[in-house]
This record gives sequence, structure tokens and C-alpha cells, in this order.
Amino acid sequence: MAVFDLERELVRERRGIEKSLRQLLNVEKGVPSRLKQAMRHSLLAGGKRLRPILVLWTWDALVAARKKTPVAREQVLVAACALEMLHTYSLIHDDLPAMDNDDLRRGQPTCHVAFDEPTAILAGDGLQARAFSLLAGSGGRLAGPLVALVADAVGPAGMVGGQQYDLDAEGREVTAAVVRKIHTGKTARLLMAAMGTGALLAGANDRVQKEIDQAALNLGLAFQGADDVLDVTASAAKLGKTAGKDEDAVKATWVRVEGLEKALLRAQRHGQAGRDALTTVLPKGPKTDLLLALTGKLWNRDC
Ligand code: IPE
Ligand code: IPE
Ligand code: MG
Ligand code: MG
Ligand code: MG
Repeated sequence: MAVFDLERELVRERRGIEKSLRQLLNVEKGVPSRLKQAMRHSLLAGGKRLRPILVLWTWDALVAARKKTPVAREQVLVAACALEMLHTYSLIHDDLPAMDNDDLRRGQPTCHVAFDEPTAILAGDGLQARAFSLLAGSGGRLAGPLVALVADAVGPAGMVGGQQYDLDAEGREVTAAVVRKIHTGKTARLLMAAMGTGALLAGANDRVQKEIDQAALNLGLAFQGADDVLDVTASAAKLGKTAGKDEDAVKATWVRVEGLEKALLRAQRHGQAGRDALTTVLPKGPKTDLLLALTGKLWNRDC
């Protein structure tokens, strides 16, 4: 029997992350008040906080057996918050009328609805820049590699590139392989960066970092696969965002390519492969068990 309660641990970790997010936004002086309000609106609206938790729990699992670590956990928390800022920026822009045109996010009106389109664009820009400043400040002697790792993951050959592929594929016939390319870019790369940040800041060697990267790729594909399934099966009330959008916009998803059941199986397959790989690479212990328990929720979830 597990000696921890996953839900309780998640709530506890989320609380710490949210407190830090609030502080990290507040300490910067000179931000126009409307811009600050828009950034706060999206960043502090809730959300699962999955990416920062992956940063922290990957780090926890890897450092459990060590006496010395390259940086302290408080700094890892700052880096984790930076990843959440990047994720939130990507959601603000993803929801814009020029992209997915959504008016509901995290149970609230989207940033461009609550404020206006130009302000939402700038709020995303602001969160992105703030995130890199925090990464540079939190990485200690690893700041350079950390900034490069995350910038590559969210950049034109990563998340932003994935969003371009996603838009290009709208309304077109696609194969499962094309969907994999889209999902890798738009979603898995940021999850890989989250776990990669935890591993880098734990001082993991190259082999361990590579294996965690591969595991996170599978987990990221499982996560986006589940997102596509939930778009069909879950309610807006549960999701905190509009349901049924992918079919309306003729988005490239595995659900569209091969149907709901197969898409769900595919997400499970990726998820299990990711979890098995993590089980092999991480040291045994309660922190690893906690992370492994969380991975089960990436594809098997209701929101
Ligand atoms: C939504 O991410 C966008 C995807 C990449 C699927 P999440 O499902 O993690 O959204 P929040 O952070 O919980 O709101
Ligand atoms: C979002 O994917 C990916 C990024 C924001 C980079 P989706 O468009 O599927 O996410 P939702 O369904 O709007 O949350
Ligand atoms: Mg999208
Ligand atoms: Mg969207
Ligand atoms: Mg979606």
C-alpha cells in the first residue's frame, strides 16, 4: 500500500507553487497595472500545475539519495514557476481568436475576453520574458544550460513549431504520424523541459537526462492524447474550457484519425511506456513512487 496520499500531496504542492507564482509576479516593479492584472488573471486562475509539479517531483526523486545538489529546492521552485508561466503564456495565445478562438479557460473568461486582444498578446509576451529571467536567476552554475534547454523546448523547433503544425493541419486529412509530430511539438516538448529541468538541477548525468527525456516524450504524448479524448468525452464544467472544440475546428487529433477507443489505447500505451522507463531510471524510494503515481494521472484523468 502506498504510504502517501497522492491527492493530498498534489494539493500541498499546488499551494506552494501558487504562493510563489503570486510573489514572483508581485516583486517586479514598473509593470503597467492593466498588463499585470491580465497576467495575474490567467496565471492565478487555477489549473493543474502539472509542469511545475513535474519539475519538483523529478528533482525530489533524483536527489533523494544525494547529500549535495547543484541548487537548493527553493531555487527549483522558482524554475518550476517559470515553466508554469511559459505554459500559461502558451494557453493565452492558444486561445486567441487568431488561433483556437476560445472564450473559457481554467473556468474563467480567457484573457482576451476578460481584457482585450492586444492586452492578452502582451500578457503572454510578458509571462514568457519573465519566465526566462527567473530561469536565469534560479539555475546557479547551470543557468546557461537551463535557459537553453527550456528555450529550445518552447521555441520554433519545439512548442511554437508544434502550434504552427497544429494550425497548418486544421481541416486537412492527416495520418497518426503527423498527429504525433504535432503533439510532440505543441505539448510533449514542454513536459520534457519540465522533467529535464528537474533532472538538470538535480545534477543528473547525461545518460539519466536522456532516459528521462525519452520517458517524458511518451508521457507528453499520453497527456495530449488524453486532452484530445477529453475534448470529446468531458463537459466544459469539468474541463474549465470549452468541450467539443477539436471536431468543430477539424483539428488533427488521434481521435479524428482512428476513433475514440483506439486513441485512448494509444494514450495509455504511451503513458505506460513513459512510466516503465521512469521506473527503470529513477532511484527506488518514496519520492519516485510519488512521481510514478502522478504519471498514472496523465492519461487516466477526468480534466
Ligand atoms: C492544456 O494544458 C493544454 C495542453 C497542452 C493540453 P493543461 O491540461 O495542463 O491545462 P491546465 O494547466 O491544467 O489549465
Ligand atoms: C494546446 O493544445 C497546446 C499549447 C497551448 C501549446 P490544445 O489547443 O489542444 O489545448 P486546449 O485544448 O486548448 O487546452
Ligand atoms: Mg491549440
Ligand atoms: Mg486550444
Ligand atoms: Mg485540446
